Amino acid sequence: MPSKIAQIRLVSSHPEVYEPCDDSFALVDALLADRINMLEHHPSLCMEIGCGSGYVITSLALMLGKDAPGIHYMASDINPHALSVTRETLEAHGVHAELINTDIASGLDKRLAGSVDVMVVNPPYVPTPEDEVGRQGIASAWAGGENGRSVIDRILPIADHLLSQKGWLYLVTLTTNNPAEVCRQMRDKGYAARIVVQRSTEEESLHVIKFWRDRDIQVDVNDKGMINKNPMRLMESLVSQFSQLSFWRSGNSNIC
Ligand SMILES: C[S@@+](CC[C@H](N)C(=O)[O-])C[C@H]1O[C@@H](n2cnc3c(N)ncnc32)[C@H](O)[C@@H]1O
Repeated sequence: MPSKIAQIRLVSSHPEVYEPCDDSFALVDALLADRINMLEHHPSLCMEIGCGSGYVITSLALMLGKDAPGIHYMASDINPHALSVTRETLEAHGVHAELINTDIASGLDKRLAGSVDVMVVNPPYVPTPEDEVGRQGIASAWAGGENGRSVIDRILPIADHLLSQKGWLYLVTLTTNNPAEVCRQMRDKGYAARIVVQRSTEEESLHVIKFWRDRDIQVDVNDKGMINKNPMRLMESLVSQFSQLSFWRSGNSNIC
């Protein structure tokens, strides 16, 4: 039986390209956990931002595979070496994706506006000095600037612009990125959120959060742009998901 995810021995590499790591595995686990939902979702266009070695986009193409023919896969990365490595990884697994060397989705906004049904992102999220963000080569794989949020905060409005009405975003974050605040930002754009996978060490928790447009959120407009028809229900729902995590109880005050 063909494997539903990429095989590490077939994943290509380059010294300047991020190798699949715990965060990559957590993201693929989240996608696998949601695979049946994705098949029922009938996506036409799936896109990864920051594809690195190609492990994630290859796994996504394999897990949807023959059960969902006709899906167009795309992947972008700011690091040109990542695109070459991703191409080799895709080819080694007999799957295909359109590869684009760009900053997030720069140059694609008109073509892709409102048309991405599944977007997956394992961004650079490590807190670093701001001037390390966007450097050439392997540093761009992890350098996330203040609170690790520089690239994440640029991706969120772009994701909102590119996602279709039924679009889903799967995003990897760390506790230090303040994922609740990320959820709040997305809620203000009309998205509900759910943690699909959570992994913890003594120091850190990593989450894969799924976002989708929730009609209950986008119902009224105020001077800030959006108001929530049922803000307490949504807030409670988010808090109840995060409150099961130890970091909520251990004194992080920046929460919903
Ligand atoms: C943590 S790595 C994840 C790689 C791969 N998706 C995985 O999960 O193994 C982050 C990736 O994002 C890319 N990246 C960083 N900043 C970017 C940007 N502004 N636009 C596109 N890709 C970016 C990096 O080059 C790197 O390949």
